Amino acid sequence: MFLVTMLVMNMAENRQKLENNIGQIANFAVKYNCALRRLDWQQEQGLVSSLPLGLNQINIQRGLTTSSTAIFVPFTTQELFQDNREALYYGLNALSNNMIMADRKKLKNPNGLILGTPGSGKSFSAKREITNAFLITNDDIAVIDPEDEYSSLVRRLGGQVIDISPTSDQYINPMDLTLNYSEEDNPLTLKSDFILSFMELIVGGKAGLEPVEKTVIDRCVHMVYRDYLQDPRPEKMPILGDLHRLLCQQPELEAQRLATALEIYVTGSLNVFNHRTNVAIKSRIVCYVIKKLGKQLKKLGMQVVQDQIWGRVSENRDAHRATRLYIDEMHLLLKEEQTAAYSVEIWKRFRKWGGIPTGLTQNVKDLLASREIENILENSDFIYILNQAGGDRQILAKQLNISPHQLGYVTNSNAGEGLLFYGNVIIPFVDHFPKDTELYSIMTTRPEDLAESTQ
Ligand SMILES: Nc1ncnc2c1ncn2[C@@H]1O[C@H](COP(=O)(O)OP(=O)(O)OP(=O)(O)O)[C@@H](O)[C@H]1O
Ligand SMILES: [Mg+2]
Repeated sequence: MFLVTMLVMNMAENRQKLENNIGQIANFAVKYNCALRRLDWQQEQGLVSSLPLGLNQINIQRGLTTSSTAIFVPFTTQELFQDNREALYYGLNALSNNMIMADRKKLKNPNGLILGTPGSGKSFSAKREITNAFLITNDDIAVIDPEDEYSSLVRRLGGQVIDISPTSDQYINPMDLTLNYSEEDNPLTLKSDFILSFMELIVGGKAGLEPVEKTVIDRCVHMVYRDYLQDPRPEKMPILGDLHRLLCQQPELEAQRLATALEIYVTGSLNVFNHRTNVAIKSRIVCYVIKKLGKQLKKLGMQVVQDQIWGRVSENRDAHRATRLYIDEMHLLLKEEQTAAYSVEIWKRFRKWGGIPTGLTQNVKDLLASREIENILENSDFIYILNQAGGDRQILAKQLNISPHQLGYVTNSNAGEGLLFYGNVIIPFVDHFPKDTELYSIMTTRPEDLAESTQ
């Protein structure tokens, strides 16, 4: 049994309106068999008691049982507010308006996904998290940027922008191998997986690589690193040209086919990746822009950059430093079987090695294309869902157990509104970023905003 005092405070611009309001509320109460009594001569006490001070100066009470009392306590919303030092801001709780502060490192699995239709604010929320993480934590941050959307933000934060394109003179070498590349005794195993997926993208074809081709590639990979592994100096690092030469020397017909396919990337017009790495990473935050690589090269570019960053993660692991990786347009990596398999592998390994990857994609269906790729969804404890198209919404509802009511938050929602999954906590959020700020003008991609800022 609880003793409860119910106070209804009325305010209005003038006396007349106040009387009207009071009349309306009294009518409403009568409709439900309740009587409201005016606090004549006790208005000051009434005001004080209705402020959130925990003081009740009104001695009118009635007894209610637990269940009746509970109706008057609206504080049943779930909150996510961690107050440790590295908690980052993810918007306001749409139900309670409280801030959502969360530290992904506290999750069993910090890997994250940002899902939403085009224009729903995926890249924008990634940029917001990047900025926040850059200012609050000491983590390294790397961005794979297929649309050149992040470079202005990264430059403004004093970071490094690496432009990978046929016309740039900044190179990264897909054959780079750090000796701590993999925790198995042989760093070549994972590297061979990478080169297989690289070759798959090059050779293409519906069925991917054939078993014989895989064998030949694996054999050549082991040979091509032999010199370097005996004497690991940077100038001994093999490049694609070395792999091509070895392929040409193999007796199998398949090897010739592979070598011919690789040729254009070695001596032909697509030789962007046939150089030793000549960019040193000097900054905590790095953006790899691969926009100017054409359609086919773009997937290769993403793959190569992902591998470079993996090298960085393995270095950072020894320094006990976390690496945050953002992959925009991640669906590009999930189309080919071998490439997808390699990405899934990296996704799983990242967590163990102190990496925090975040994938952004508009194609939920691609995430469920195969059992293997579904691993990405299952291995991500942080999912930021923005507006969804009908079909994707049903898929997600089934996969993540979202109730029809919660689905409302990702149906025709505005940019920056949606549902946040943090472990087993599900919270609807709104994040209306103030538009009159310098940060907004750097982060926006909306054409009208961009036109305004150049005026
Ligand atoms: N939280 C937000 N507050 C205010 N404006 C936002 C917010 N999120 C997004 N916007 C606006 O919406 C625009 C589009 O967002 P964004 O570029 O992130 O879309 P996207 O989901 O990445 O789309 P695409 O799939 O085409 O890459 C932004 O440029 C920005 O102007
Ligand atoms: Mg985007």
